[in-house]
Amino acid sequence: MAGHWADFQYEIYLNGMTGAVPRLPTDLTRLEQLTEQRLGPGPIGYVAGSAGDGSTARANRAALDRHRIVPRMLRDVHERDLSVRVLGRELPAPLALAPVGVLSIMHPGAEPAAARAAAARGVPFVLSSASSTPMEEVAEAMGGAERWFQLYWPKDVEVARSFLARARAAGYTALVVTLDTPLLSWRPRDLDQAYLPFLHGVGTANYFTDPAFRAGLAKPVHEDPNAAVMHFVGMFSDPAKTWPDLAFLRENWDGPIVLKGILHPDDARLAADAGMDGVVVSNHGGRQVAGSVAAADALPRVAEAVGDRLDVLFDSGVRTGDDVFKALALGARAVLLGRPYVYGLALDGEAGVDHVVRCLLAELDLTLALSGHAGPGTVGPGDLVTAPA
Ligand SMILES: Cc1cc2nc3c(=O)[nH]c(=O)nc-3n(C[C@H](O)[C@H](O)[C@H](O)COP(=O)(O)O)c2cc1C
Repeated sequence: MAGHWADFQYEIYLNGMTGAVPRLPTDLTRLEQLTEQRLGPGPIGYVAGSAGDGSTARANRAALDRHRIVPRMLRDVHERDLSVRVLGRELPAPLALAPVGVLSIMHPGAEPAAARAAAARGVPFVLSSASSTPMEEVAEAMGGAERWFQLYWPKDVEVARSFLARARAAGYTALVVTLDTPLLSWRPRDLDQAYLPFLHGVGTANYFTDPAFRAGLAKPVHEDPNAAVMHFVGMFSDPAKTWPDLAFLRENWDGPIVLKGILHPDDARLAADAGMDGVVVSNHGGRQVAGSVAAADALPRVAEAVGDRLDVLFDSGVRTGDDVFKALALGARAVLLGRPYVYGLALDGEAGVDHVVRCLLAELDLTLALSGHAGPGTVGPGDLVTAPA
């Protein structure tokens, strides 16, 4: 064993001998407040904001908090291995960075900075369809590192086909299809400021560079940017899609396909019946349906329904290493980390994302060890109790 993720804490203490302390807090729950102070009202509202009054985002946190870990003693945990097999790939830890659009409003380094940080630690980076950098450029920044492409399934079938072909050619190995955003939800923090970056042509890079998208424009993007934006708005998503449409994706993508935004066990069964390879139990970080079930409350039922048929991933509310532990115990094979890495990016670019990834995995490694586990494989529902009300 070359080393443990937990060793990051010794690195920090050793650096401290020369007077250096980490540039960002190691309690990742503090990043949101720091970012609130750093970013302008538009960008921070976009990343921190949620649907409606924020009830689902709060429920995501409350559900994870309600579960408490019951550590076990006197188990040999001196050598640990956090690696897991997900979608047929060996990952160094049960973690990937979630697809988050428009990262250029957080930091000029945008997607390439975050993707490089993920690549350096072997953590898969999931690139959003709504990225501010074309998928080929992000791929180039990552070298041979593991990357997945998130699809907002466009209305225009030729653009969908073209996105899939481009993603495959650029080395994205898995397709993550987000189903919970057929329409943009009611988001008061954005509405109150009338802030939607896409209308300014930010977060549209994959579309504006796409030959099939451009073929639908009367004039090149730079000659009539407003028309290009309107063309994007008209095709961005398709609320008419239904389960049989998944056959199109199977025909046009020869790697693993994961459906993101699954909360109901019956939907998970439909995903398995349709030959999908995974689901992400997620409510989009509370950004789509206010009043929705917390993602962590939906997870056990989905895992029970399909955990033996496909890979169950999880996001929405993960902030710390113990949150990851709880998600594993509730049936997830791996988690996607969302807002915390975006705050890391906003605060310190690539180094900020690296900091967040290392803190999270060090904390997870320590939580596993101190709870009596040498790896994710032995964690289960028996490691949790529900906190008394
Ligand atoms: C600012 C922002 C932008 C997002 N953009 C996308 C996106 O483009 N595609 C997608 O599938 N999910 C998107 N998500 C959802 C994330 O992938 C993930 O589900 C969510 O961040 C999890 O919630 P959490 O960050 O509160 O843990 C976005 C989330 C945020 C915060």
